[in-house]
Amino acid sequence: MSKKAIISLDGQNFDLPIIEGSVGPDVIDISKLYAQSGKFTLDPGFTSTASCQSSITYIDGDKGECYYRGYPMDVLAEKSSFLEIVHLLWTGSLPTKAEWYEYSEAIKTHTMVHEQMKTFFNGFRRGSHPMAILTSVVAALSAFYPDSIDVNDLEQRQISARRMIAKVPTLAAMAYKYSIGQPFIYPDNNLDYCENFMQMTFGVPTEKYKVNKVFSKALDKIFILHADHEQNASTSTVRLAASSGVNPFASISAGFTSLWGPLHGGANEAALNMLKEIGDVKNIPEYVKRAKDKNDPFKLMGFGHRVYKNYDPRAKVMQKTCHDVLEELGRKDDKILQVAIELEKIALQDDYFVEKKLYPNIDFYSGITLSAMGFPATMFTPLFAVARTAGWIAHWKEMYLDPQNRIGRPRQLYIGEKPRQFLELKDRD
Ligand code: SDX
Repeated sequence: MSKKAIISLDGQNFDLPIIEGSVGPDVIDISKLYAQSGKFTLDPGFTSTASCQSSITYIDGDKGECYYRGYPMDVLAEKSSFLEIVHLLWTGSLPTKAEWYEYSEAIKTHTMVHEQMKTFFNGFRRGSHPMAILTSVVAALSAFYPDSIDVNDLEQRQISARRMIAKVPTLAAMAYKYSIGQPFIYPDNNLDYCENFMQMTFGVPTEKYKVNKVFSKALDKIFILHADHEQNASTSTVRLAASSGVNPFASISAGFTSLWGPLHGGANEAALNMLKEIGDVKNIPEYVKRAKDKNDPFKLMGFGHRVYKNYDPRAKVMQKTCHDVLEELGRKDDKILQVAIELEKIALQDDYFVEKKLYPNIDFYSGITLSAMGFPATMFTPLFAVARTAGWIAHWKEMYLDPQNRIGRPRQLYIGEKPRQFLELKDRD
């Protein structure tokens, strides 16, 4: 017999079906509640609300575990590659050798962007934040690739997905080059995904770019860690935008916009700026005190998470990757890393953080690592967005296979003025 919840309202009982997932919390299906009871439910921030059913990623917040299509993310980060993970997130399976060859070669044929996009970039102020540029140029892809914008055509969905995962690294590198006044570097399809991104970002026309394999491997791991994370703010934004049937490029650009916020994908930039502002381990107590002060808006950036009430498993892999990169650079005793390690130690022994279950999240160590690899802080969120494009597209694809897919249109609790009469201006004293 199927399980149900019963809500009793004004002496009437309403049966609400309970639906079980493969793992994790069951859900109470309230989709018929308003029709039956005339009542909405209210859940600002969606702390107790599932917006959809999905098979892509599962997070166990209490255990601090994360799975992509059932595979532990930390195992994938050690043993797989970002493009394999893209295939896994999009199709539900890791590619066979034959699939891998076709797929990786197909992605390479889309790494260049329409030459006229350069003109689009030229409209920005040179010092623009790369995310200000990317939120615009990703949406502009729909103007340059009008042959793959029909979301009801499976083939067009396929090619727009491959175009986006292939082109966002090129666009991110272009946004960086434009902001520092250097010429754009074309993709080099003899390189793998991350090597190519590094050469487009740090290469110059005057000399052959030398790939640092430790860095490109570290970046591939970082992309895997950032690829997807259930219904986070930016993924939910992509789903809601896409539910209107808008073209794929516009839906994914909505994800870029939401991710940019300092409470979300902008936290890596904010976390490094915070660690630099702390500057020395002797200043840590003052900042921990501020983070605990209700009257001080300061928060420890890179700490806390809506779902993880244990250590973010990605932060553990990120910390090890950080050590690998700093080791490669002979900077094991990097001062900012020492501040981060000491801050983590102090915070995790402090009752405030323990009681509120605030642990380092993925953004706590990523900034130090990316900075050591040569990326400026303004490029941290673009890197996050390049990786999360994989997840955004996976959820976008999943929506079209979901028979329950319909335009998202939340209701509200109205607390404004009750209906009232209009008064002519001449009568308003
Ligand atoms: C990402 O959703 C995802 O999966 C996101 C992400 C992904 O991969 O997509 O994991 C990526 O966005 C990671 C989070 C990056 N953001 C930050 O590091 C910014 C700092 N963290 C916080 O702003 C906060 O922890 C959030 C935004 C991450 C979570 O916010 P919640 O779940 O709404 O929790 P909350 O703000 O209500 O905090 C609960 C309590 C509050 O205290 P009380 O009002 O209960 O007394 O904890 C406190 C907060 O004041 N708190 C912090 C804190 N984070 C929460 N206090 C100090 N420092 C912090 N970092």
